[in-house]
Amino acid sequence: MIKKGIILSGGMGTRMSPLTKAVNKQLLPIYDKPLIFYPLSILMLAKIRDILIIVNKGQLNQYKKILPDGKRLGINLSYKEQNSPKGLPDAFILGEKFIGKNNVALILGDNFFYGQYLSSKLLECIKLKQGAKVLLHRVANPEKYGVAKVKNKKIILIKEKPKKFVSDLAITGLYFFDNKVIKYSKELKPSKRKELEITDLLKKYKTKNKLNADYIGRGGAWLDTGSLDDFYKTSNFVSAIENRQGFKIACLEEIALSNKWINKKNIKEAIKFYGNCNYSQYLNKLIK
Ligand code: DAU
Repeated sequence: MIKKGIILSGGMGTRMSPLTKAVNKQLLPIYDKPLIFYPLSILMLAKIRDILIIVNKGQLNQYKKILPDGKRLGINLSYKEQNSPKGLPDAFILGEKFIGKNNVALILGDNFFYGQYLSSKLLECIKLKQGAKVLLHRVANPEKYGVAKVKNKKIILIKEKPKKFVSDLAITGLYFFDNKVIKYSKELKPSKRKELEITDLLKKYKTKNKLNADYIGRGGAWLDTGSLDDFYKTSNFVSAIENRQGFKIACLEEIALSNKWINKKNIKEAIKFYGNCNYSQYLNKLIK
């Protein structure tokens, strides 16, 4: 059972400059909440309560203003700074002490997932005992992602941002690993773009026949927040769903309450913390 999760929430956000000059991308709004709420909600839906958030240097205080230590959400949040964006597997080197002897999930701070069967899929994924598991999703622009070619339900090829078409199955930014991930990450060498690549890490598992894949499926959404346009499209998606249904996506207190990690009293404290806003009104409805 995976009980620990890392959110990799650093990076320079250069593609979204000047917005990201003073504020980290993951603290910018996707409709009515900071982007970081969405990946955090995914780990909470997976019933993971022990979470390390890796942020870039200088942003720790900003994060702690909105997500202090997690007590209010019935979770345990810790932080670590990354001095420079060395690549996604750096999460397991920086997080070595946090991970200890456990297995671990990693979610990228800028990834957005939504879908009806997502929660049950996540609960399946955290059962991982050995090896690694990735979630694949068909996309129209595979050249922007790490992709996997699949044959007879097995991944036969992995490529990071392929210039020539290999497959339209993107490897999404949610990964599940056994404890060997620390050792394997330390063995990696930086790529041409001077980063440790998650696809190289996955290849190590693939070579040993320990890489499994599952699909989000066409009923689910995996959206990008990489560029400014994508950011606004994701924001519009959240706004459309929330306003149509009256339910919020990634309301952290709602998930914590339904997981029975917090009670009505905690929700009242959260309302005080957020102040008079639409989010608080929603929380208020939850406990009426
Ligand atoms: O979104 C899924 C894709 O994420 C995968 O399909 C690719 O295989 C994987 O390499 C990654 O591709 P990107 O080029 O989109 O990753 P990016 O550099 O944009 O970083 C993703 C997030 O991780 C972003 O929120 C910033 C954060 N980050 C990134 C790096 C390299 C860090 O916090 N530290 C880092 O060192």
